[in-house]
Amino acid sequence: MLNPLPIALAAIATLTVVLVSTVKGTGWEPTEDVSDEIIERRANSLPETGFPEPGNRAIGGGGGGGAIPAGGEGGEGELEEGGSASAGPGDIPEDEVEYFEVEFAKQGETVELANDEPILEQGEDQGWDLPYACRQGQCVSCAGQITDGPSEDFVEHDNQQMLDENELDDGYTLTCVAYPRDSFTIETGEAP
Ligand code: FES
Repeated sequence: MLNPLPIALAAIATLTVVLVSTVKGTGWEPTEDVSDEIIERRANSLPETGFPEPGNRAIGGGGGGGAIPAGGEGGEGELEEGGSASAGPGDIPEDEVEYFEVEFAKQGETVELANDEPILEQGEDQGWDLPYACRQGQCVSCAGQITDGPSEDFVEHDNQQMLDENELDDGYTLTCVAYPRDSFTIETGEAP
């Protein structure tokens, strides 16, 4: 059998606490909304920019006086016209192609070579079986020797990676990537 006295006492105590809390409150107050105040304080701390619109901060916009300098004449940043970053010695407009007389000593013939095609290709066009392997200036299979002087006085190489300065000065050239720039005599199949 339960004793009703402790239960009644507990109920009275609980009721008392609830009543006191309801009447007096917990003492907690919601914090004041200070967001407007913070925004205003921040706005006041920023220097005056003079820009008419907040979004007018793009380069070239605004009237100066801000952090971004005025854009001068407005010509900065424009891409240069004409020219291509990847233009090679063979990228010559058709109406500017020139021809040079080249004597192929071993073949015993002199032919006119265009300056927009490698020596090797133009020699093959003659029907000659000229040596080659990579056709990219990365071996010396196609090497030949210009007998008139330093090879780079007579041809322009397109990224040859095998011949050093002395070999070039001795007239050696990689015919697969060598574009004629003058008339000369060449011994094909001659490597340093
Ligand atoms: S074929 Fe290889 S460098 Fe010319």
